[in-house]
Amino acid sequence: MNGEFVHTAREATVTILTIDRQSALNALNARVLQELLAGVREFEADPEARVMIITGAGEKAFVAGADIAAMSKMSVREGREFANLGQSVFSAIENTPKPVIAAINGYALGGGCELAMACDIRIASEKAKIGQPEVNLGIIPGFGGTQRLPRLVGRGKAKELIFSAVALDAASAEKIGLVDAVVPADQLLAKVRELAALIASKGPVAVSLAKAAINRGLDVDLQSGLAYEAAVFGECFSTEDQREGMEAFLSKKKAEFKGK
Ligand code: CAA
Repeated sequence: MNGEFVHTAREATVTILTIDRQSALNALNARVLQELLAGVREFEADPEARVMIITGAGEKAFVAGADIAAMSKMSVREGREFANLGQSVFSAIENTPKPVIAAINGYALGGGCELAMACDIRIASEKAKIGQPEVNLGIIPGFGGTQRLPRLVGRGKAKELIFSAVALDAASAEKIGLVDAVVPADQLLAKVRELAALIASKGPVAVSLAKAAINRGLDVDLQSGLAYEAAVFGECFSTEDQREGMEAFLSKKKAEFKGK
């Protein structure tokens, strides 16, 4: 798609979605969020696309947050609706059946940090700055930050970051598990493309079911999570990919997965 603020491009089996609103450091207004959702739906519906990368245009920012100018005049009802919109778009990313990687190329603040946390994997440039600065503005995180940050880094660290509004550099974010890897700025997209291509070469149905099992398991107790895993493990044996993967191993060939 080629929206006003969001562009997608598919390279072989990988879709790259770029948020491009550089005049406001890629800040998220309602239009950006709607286009982001359209990009996610396009990725979901594209049978050739196996992995999506989300990144920000320009040198400076991944996403510098929700749009402060737009929020400055909101009523209580509009604030709640804006949070509902952002949350529903980020939940669509989290629940999309295929993997999504955030390539954090610069500032990922507020809604930008929340967007990255809704992705499956976060790779940051060493120039990235990540945090939840909302209390500087007299508000709280509204696109999932109070919920996903403690799940990712633990409640103490999440509270420290949200209460203090301190943004972390990439190395500190990696240390607490807020990002999964840090790479030199000029290699970010190349490294993320490499990881995306590696994931795209695996059995797509299995990757998708693994994503569902991990996501489901984090929201339920261990026994329920294990029961779900066993059910989904069983489901794998109804797929062509399982037969292909195992036959290829046993005959010492490279598996050619069809995603069926
Ligand atoms: N919303 C709207 N506009 C923004 C923005 C945002 N979140 N972040 C940056 N911009 C705009 C600036 O207003 C500025 O516009 P003008 O050129 O028209 O003045 C332009 O982008 C460039 O920004 P700066 O001049 O401020 O750039 P800088 O290099 O001096 O600073 C920065 C960079 C530290 C990221 C700074 O821009 C900043 O602090 N931005 C706000 C970060 C923030 O508070 N994010 C959280 C928003 S609240 C939220 O996200 C709520 C939620 O959970 C839903």
